[in-house]
This record gives sequence, C-alpha cells and structure tokens, in this order.
Amino acid sequence: MRDQDMRVDSQLSEAEIAEVLEEASHYPEKSGASIEGLKVVQKYRGWVSNESLKQVADLLDMSVEELDGVATFYNLIYRQPVGRKVILCCDSVSCWMLGSDNIKQKISDRLGIEYGGTTSDGEYTLLPIVCLGACDHAPVLMVGDELHHNVDEAQLDQILNTRAS
Ligand code: FES
Repeated sequence: MRDQDMRVDSQLSEAEIAEVLEEASHYPEKSGASIEGLKVVQKYRGWVSNESLKQVADLLDMSVEELDGVATFYNLIYRQPVGRKVILCCDSVSCWMLGSDNIKQKISDRLGIEYGGTTSDGEYTLLPIVCLGACDHAPVLMVGDELHHNVDEAQLDQILNTRAS
C-alpha cells in the first residue's frame, strides 16, 4: 500500500533512500536488492519513473540499463502510472480454462477499461498477468495486495467495492 500517493517530486525522499539502502545491506552486492529497491519506490509513488529508476540504480551501484532490465522482467513493477489499485487478471492456462476471459470481460464492462487502461477516477488499472501460482483456485485475480480465488461474476461487486455497471 502506498504511503504517499502518487508523489510527483522527482528526487527520492530520505525515507526511500534509507529503505533502499537497508534492503541492499542484506546482500553481498548491492545489486542483489534490485527488486526490493524498485518495490520501495513503488510503495511510495505507485510506479517507477525513469528518474526514480536512475536514482535507485545509483544507490545500488548498477547501470540504468541493468536495473531497467530487472524492472521489465519483473511484471509487478509498474513503469507507467497506474490506478490506486491494480487488478491483475491471470490469463494462464488453468485460469483461462476456468473462465478468466469471461471474468476479464465482466471487469472491463463494469469499469469501462480494457487491459492497460485506468478508470477515469484513478481507482483501478486492469492488467493481464501470467500464472499467479494459485492454479488450484482458478480463476484468480489480484486486486491491490489481495489475491482472490475461484472468482466468479457474483463476487465481482464485492471485489470491486460494489461498483455497479
Ligand atoms: S494459471 Fe492462473 S494462477 Fe496459475
């Protein structure tokens, strides 16, 4: 959860810097904390801008290209602004077989957004994701920090804070 929603100042705060360095202290090479460092920034800002990424790279003695490669590979790091809650809809095989396409379409209809879109009130961003590791509870959604198992249409009102279509 974001401590300071959508920070706009470009410099990392003292708290962010301290947390990134704290994470780095657990590794023989600072670069070992690359994902944690990016997560720190995302916790405070909701996403990781180019400027923030450069500052984290400097703190971890990495090149921008190296850290950007990590951020690109790890699909829970957002490199563009997202809504206050990101809805991750698993589209891997178990979830697909048990109706994830239908669930995704119901969400799209309800919120008026497609994959990659953010609601006009900035509340939700909808993204696809590969297997969330809960295939025996398919179909699976992650909304913010919460994983939702065995999702069906009837649950969407509650999951999406009872927003009606
Ligand atoms: S296929 Fe969806 S959680 Fe594994």
